[in-house]
Amino acid sequence: MQPESPVVSQWSRGSNQPDLRRIACNPNYWYPLAWGRQLKRNKTLSVAFAGDPIVLVRFPDVPWFHSREYKPMLFDREVGCHYTFMHENLMDMNHQILHQRLLGSLKPQLLRRAKGEGWVEAQYHLSDLGGKKHRGINWLGMGSDEDERRFDVMTIRTDYPYQTLKIAGSSADASPSLFLWVAYVPTDRQDRTNRSFGILLIRKPRVAFLLRLVWPVLRHFVKSVFAEDRMAVEAEQRAYDIQGGDWNQEIFPVILDLRELLMKHGVDRAGR
Ligand SMILES: [Fe+2]
Repeated sequence: MQPESPVVSQWSRGSNQPDLRRIACNPNYWYPLAWGRQLKRNKTLSVAFAGDPIVLVRFPDVPWFHSREYKPMLFDREVGCHYTFMHENLMDMNHQILHQRLLGSLKPQLLRRAKGEGWVEAQYHLSDLGGKKHRGINWLGMGSDEDERRFDVMTIRTDYPYQTLKIAGSSADASPSLFLWVAYVPTDRQDRTNRSFGILLIRKPRVAFLLRLVWPVLRHFVKSVFAEDRMAVEAEQRAYDIQGGDWNQEIFPVILDLRELLMKHGVDRAGR
């Protein structure tokens, strides 16, 4: 006998909130749908936003992108999950155990959380508890200053619909050693896949040549971390699909704030 297919509920289990995985990405924002270099003269490029074919490129205003002190690493990848899983994954540093093989043993401590109109932010300090790690993790911070080496602060912010991650010293005007900007663009009507566009800016050390030397290793390291994240978010999507709804009883305040933001600014699928 065939098992009964799960009944998909409009509502999160045990709450009066609508199911976040049924809230579509708001199209009334600028999204990158391709890199400029992919658009060749007199050629068309087929891209999609939430299942609709569109050609549109608008480069965002990314801080430090035009600074000569930073070297950019651009990437994009298809990930088989709802875009909200991506936001949650980056914002929740408690999943560091997943990256133990690459990052060693890190203990995240939430220093501060804040929110405002259209944004949510969390600041962490990651204590290094040792353990074997990939050499790329040390090279990523080769441009860090004295302040950051004493005590580094990781700031993760969702500025709807974009997300950033910054590692810097504790002073308010500190220049980061690393800055990541990401946009998650849904590519199908069911919101089961997204294309993640990322710009990772790495601060050059005093001898800038060293960064160019280790660049291929850094690229491999970053790709490996993302591959682990991808495995986690795609597993979350599969669990969601099997259960036929969002059964996750979230209690972490940062993620609750983030979910509220994504819910408020997204578009209700039923209303599309
Ligand atoms: Fe991760």
